[in-house]
Amino acid sequence: MSRFLEALNGVRKEGPPPVWLMRQAGRYLPEYQAIRRRIPLAQMFSTPEVAAEVTLLPIDILGVDAAILFSDILVAVEMLGLKALYQDGTAPRIIPRIETPQQVDALKQIPACQANSYVARTIQLLEPLLNCPLIGFVGGPFTLACYCLEEGATGAMQKMRFWMEHHPEALKLLLEKLTVALVDLAKLQIEAGVEALQIFDSWAGVLPKPLFERFALPYLKKLTEQLKPLGVPILLFTRHSASYVTELAALGARGISLSEDADFREIREQLGSQVVLQGNLSPDLLSGPVSEVVAATQRLLQQMGGDPAFIVNLAHGVTPAAKVECVRALVDTVRNGSAAAW
Ligand code: CP3
Repeated sequence: MSRFLEALNGVRKEGPPPVWLMRQAGRYLPEYQAIRRRIPLAQMFSTPEVAAEVTLLPIDILGVDAAILFSDILVAVEMLGLKALYQDGTAPRIIPRIETPQQVDALKQIPACQANSYVARTIQLLEPLLNCPLIGFVGGPFTLACYCLEEGATGAMQKMRFWMEHHPEALKLLLEKLTVALVDLAKLQIEAGVEALQIFDSWAGVLPKPLFERFALPYLKKLTEQLKPLGVPILLFTRHSASYVTELAALGARGISLSEDADFREIREQLGSQVVLQGNLSPDLLSGPVSEVVAATQRLLQQMGGDPAFIVNLAHGVTPAAKVECVRALVDTVRNGSAAAW
């Protein structure tokens, strides 16, 4: 079994922990930029040959332990009859933007195999080409709702706050419809062959607890509960996950991706040995000196390197400012780093 799947099953015994990075196939790679100059982003996501080629880049260049499907959480809105628009330099936008409760009523529920069939085709293309596990993903219902409502989603969540207060029922219907779509898209990926699935509910963790419990948690719960019986391990990601580890662990996913504010030892003690923990190096390290990347990675390994259910990752995605030599140093340090850690 691969190191990644061993850690996901909590049974890794010897050798270094597995490492992969969110947004490992990103703009920091010249090979990625070369493809991106030729092909518009939405077309990269929806052309299986291109999406498969980009998925493979970090496997070939960095030698990480798992691949993550090259796609975006926003492609799921195609199942509601909407479209994601990616423009350079601004946050992506959903068109048409949802401005009224009537629009929520009118949203379609198109099956994933119709609206997002290219995702399944990409996974099938990758199967014979990969020598490591493939991670599939979907966004969380709350995060996708933010993008449907905001003019360009940001942490301020102005429109979302308005809907929570003035249209809570319509917002809940939107979250329900998104949950149905996301379950369907996740199932499509699992049926096509992904070996793990990460749920990116990035903006959920930004909410204060009462709102998190009302508008994010119930839908994350529905999503995980419907996916768990399919037998593929699920990882949960949200910003500031350290504040909500108890709630996230109670959902019964296999693991939690931790943010920078997390204290691994404390959380391991709090949650017990069963939950897989993933994270949590700062993405900012990757645009600084290599020596700091090595030092921070070694510190993390000293703390968690011997934990059988630990996966090295960042606290958030690799940024475009990352230097390839830093990303490589992180992966190499995990591979060859201080053997004393295990
Ligand atoms: O890890 C991976 O590389 C897999 C692919 C992936 C993308 N987006 C590709 C992408 C994944 C897992 C995502 C998740 C995603 N997308 C999230 C959740 C995680 C997070 O970062 O909070 C969110 C909120 C989005 C929505 C989104 N898509 C934003 C805000 C942006 C613009 C800013 C950005 O991150 O660049 C995108 C565009 C996007 N998603 C790109 C890619 C490759 C285009 C930018 C580029 O060319 O690199």
